[in-house]
Amino acid sequence: MTPLLLVLQLLVVLLSVQAQNTYIVGGIYQQLQAYGSVRMLNATGFNGPSSDSSAIGVVYRVADNTDLDAFIAFTPPFVRFTVVLSFAMFTPSVLESLRNSNKLAGVIVVQQLDPAFAAPTSDSPDAAFPQFQHSLYANDSSPPYAWNPKVGNGIMYKAFDFPIFVMPKNPNDLTWQQTVGTLLKTADYNVERKYQTYPLYAIELNQFMFASHDASVCLRRGWCYPAGATSIWSTFSQNLTQNNDRKLVVVTAQADANGFFQDFTNAAATTVSGYVTLLAAAQALSENQKAVAALPSDILFTLFSSESFGFAGSQRFVNDISAPFTCKQEPKSINDSSASCGYPGAQCQNPCHISTDFKDIAFDRIKAIVEVNQVSGLGLAPNVLDAGNVNMYLHVDDASDQATLDLVKLFTESGGNGTVKVGGVSAKGDVNVKFNPAFSGTNRKLPPSSAMSFLAKKKIPAVVIGDYQSSFTNPYYNSIYDDGSQMTPAHYAAMCGVATQTARSVFQSAGGSATDAAQFSANCTLVADLFKCFTSNLTCSLFHSIYTGASVPYENQYPGFFDHSVAFTSTPAFMMYNFLANYTAYKRSAYGSCDSSQRRPSCGSPNEICVANVCVASKASTHAAYGSGIEMDYGSNKYVVVNAAKGTWVQSSFNSSNIRIRTFLVTSPQYQGMQVGVGIALTLVVTAATYYVQKFVDTKFK
Ligand SMILES: *[C@@H]1O[C@H](CO)[C@@H](O)[C@H](O)[C@H]1NC(C)=O
Ligand SMILES: *[C@@H]1O[C@H](CO)[C@@H](O)[C@H](O)[C@H]1NC(C)=O
Ligand SMILES: *[C@@H]1O[C@H](CO)[C@@H](O)[C@H](O)[C@H]1NC(C)=O
Ligand SMILES: *[C@@H]1O[C@H](CO)[C@@H](O)[C@H](O)[C@H]1NC(C)=O
Ligand SMILES: *[C@@H]1O[C@H](CO)[C@@H](O)[C@H](O)[C@H]1NC(C)=O
Ligand SMILES: *[C@@H]1O[C@H](CO)[C@@H](O)[C@H](O)[C@H]1NC(C)=O
Ligand SMILES: *[C@@H]1O[C@H](CO)[C@@H](O)[C@H](O)[C@H]1NC(C)=O
Ligand SMILES: *[C@@H]1O[C@H](CO)[C@@H](O)[C@H](O)[C@H]1NC(C)=O
Ligand SMILES: *[C@@H]1O[C@H](CO)[C@@H](O)[C@H](O)[C@H]1NC(C)=O
Repeated sequence: MTPLLLVLQLLVVLLSVQAQNTYIVGGIYQQLQAYGSVRMLNATGFNGPSSDSSAIGVVYRVADNTDLDAFIAFTPPFVRFTVVLSFAMFTPSVLESLRNSNKLAGVIVVQQLDPAFAAPTSDSPDAAFPQFQHSLYANDSSPPYAWNPKVGNGIMYKAFDFPIFVMPKNPNDLTWQQTVGTLLKTADYNVERKYQTYPLYAIELNQFMFASHDASVCLRRGWCYPAGATSIWSTFSQNLTQNNDRKLVVVTAQADANGFFQDFTNAAATTVSGYVTLLAAAQALSENQKAVAALPSDILFTLFSSESFGFAGSQRFVNDISAPFTCKQEPKSINDSSASCGYPGAQCQNPCHISTDFKDIAFDRIKAIVEVNQVSGLGLAPNVLDAGNVNMYLHVDDASDQATLDLVKLFTESGGNGTVKVGGVSAKGDVNVKFNPAFSGTNRKLPPSSAMSFLAKKKIPAVVIGDYQSSFTNPYYNSIYDDGSQMTPAHYAAMCGVATQTARSVFQSAGGSATDAAQFSANCTLVADLFKCFTSNLTCSLFHSIYTGASVPYENQYPGFFDHSVAFTSTPAFMMYNFLANYTAYKRSAYGSCDSSQRRPSCGSPNEICVANVCVASKASTHAAYGSGIEMDYGSNKYVVVNAAKGTWVQSSFNSSNIRIRTFLVTSPQYQGMQVGVGIALTLVVTAATYYVQKFVDTKFK
């Protein structure tokens, strides 16, 4: 084809694109605020919705099974649909039915507003045994137990060839009701016209993700980053070191989570309940640091990030503390940074570590692990809570191991009968939090937990505390609905009871007496305040005293992608670090005023940070958290997959300004067809004409 022909043909294409726009009645687009799902990839593939190009479909409302059946039976020629779906219907099998109808353009899941779209009684996009492939039992042919059967449909791990958006109840968007209202109105409008009387509302969905293939390819092409963030740890023991024979008691919780729609990974009961309780236990112990310092063992607090991505935080931490560490490249100057280690002043450049203090932790001397898992009691029946009885369960790997049973007894037999009474909860009275072995009868072994990463290296007595004995009581594990809005004072009391007992049992496990342990009680007001601040009010007064930089009241608990140039990529992680540092401080000194708008406050000297205008010296440190199957290649300055069997999750990059969702009225496909026909005829005519003109030109000027 000669250039002239090309130009003319291009013109024709442009004209016909122009013509297609006239299908849209009046040409009025209304932009809608909706959110996509970010594509995640691992060593073997990817999940999430397709996002290759824009999809346009007539709005169709599917709130329940009747709607679904009607949709499947409805087969007008040439029409494709954007389905407005309720969360109750957001399951792999419904999506498969929609897909198999061959008329699906895309899906928008609506969280609330219309009663038909109200919260389902249970919803979880995660698997029945979350993270089984990276768990202690990964070598078993199948998961030993279904912890998350409520829905546990694993939709998070499936790939779809159509776009999926969500219209959430968004605390950061005061117009969300209006947006959802608009969407539902377009659906109602089409329902009234039985999806047949045009014009009808259509929606265009567009979310382009750069990534394709798998983690290796994507990392190499520079379109992906490891999913990950920062783990946090600290200890009261200023002189923590490898070179003594003190034992260590590890108290751990997960610091973030994952969900299908990452922007709305709220994880209030799933994760926040655990880390808030851990912080409150640390605070309780800090009330008598002298007694803690006198213990024969060290207490180590860890908050592991990115555990929903192959236990990334705990596996990396355990790997690092269980092997001898050598820094291959020390920083050349105080604020040194490089392309593979961007944090100014990272203590080791290769391997990149902001802090190398983890060298002080002796893995072989860990004598016990206490993990605070889901402990809010969210799924407990209201009458159980109202009666003031909350049962907590201690999960273990090996119920025949005496040291493990001894650790369990520190909870179940403490204070006579293993019950912590939390008073002053509400008019309803006290809440009794009772601790029970989870394994009486059957031992289902450990639920998904960070403790597994330690136990995979070495047998260590470990308990995982949960508000469930068999399957999760939390009906919203990693769901958008786990937003903390269902919590009542009794739930805070449950967490507070766990915080108190954890402080006491850990004190005893570290060598303290039962009598001395009884002095520690968690501050229940603090538990409630922390919980509310983390889940819905980052600008609450408790947080504001430390950090004023939060621009929104809510940040999700999804770690995002790992960035070696910053210590904290989210406000919640930064706040956890500050609280843990403050509670475990071995020295406090007055300081002028902190720059509380910054996420990197400093008082000028190492190991000291500025917390609420006080200079706090502590052992608090951060530790990189990203899949243990991924490492930095310091030659090419790129992350590479080094072990496909370990966590290798990466996140695709995307351009958020290209995310688009808009609605408009369309005319019938017959009318559109006619126009396409006209367009094609026009194209043929012009092509023929061009051909002859070209021929004419060619002959004439030969
Ligand atoms: C699973 O099997 C592999 C290969 O035999 C082994 O290296 C690994 O330690 C096992 N994992 C666990 C948790 O036992
Ligand atoms: C990798 O991703 C695919 C697609 O999401 C998933 O089915 C598979 O289980 C993942 N593998 C691991 C080891 O996580
Ligand atoms: C820790 O070490 C410092 C400096 O060597 C010393 O002054 C301090 O007393 C030690 N603290 C404890 C609790 O042993
Ligand atoms: C290192 O960075 C800090 C924080 O940005 C800055 O205050 C300090 O002046 C820098 N020090 C040197 C020697 O560049
Ligand atoms: C035992 O538990 C009950 C609540 O179930 C509580 O009222 C009582 O004080 C507890 N006894 C002891 C010795 O802690
Ligand atoms: C408990 O914590 C709150 C902060 O949420 C604080 O205002 C209160 O003084 C604390 N109570 C005690 C007894 O320390
Ligand atoms: C957040 O906390 C601040 C300070 O306590 C309060 O004024 C504000 O109303 C709270 N916001 C929400 C959404 O609860
Ligand atoms: C930090 O700890 C001190 C001492 O326990 C306490 O008084 C203060 O309220 C804490 N600050 C914050 C912001 O938690
Ligand atoms: C993102 O898309 C917008 C609009 O298409 C464009 O202007 C911008 O340059 C893009 N940004 C990046 C980083 O690609």
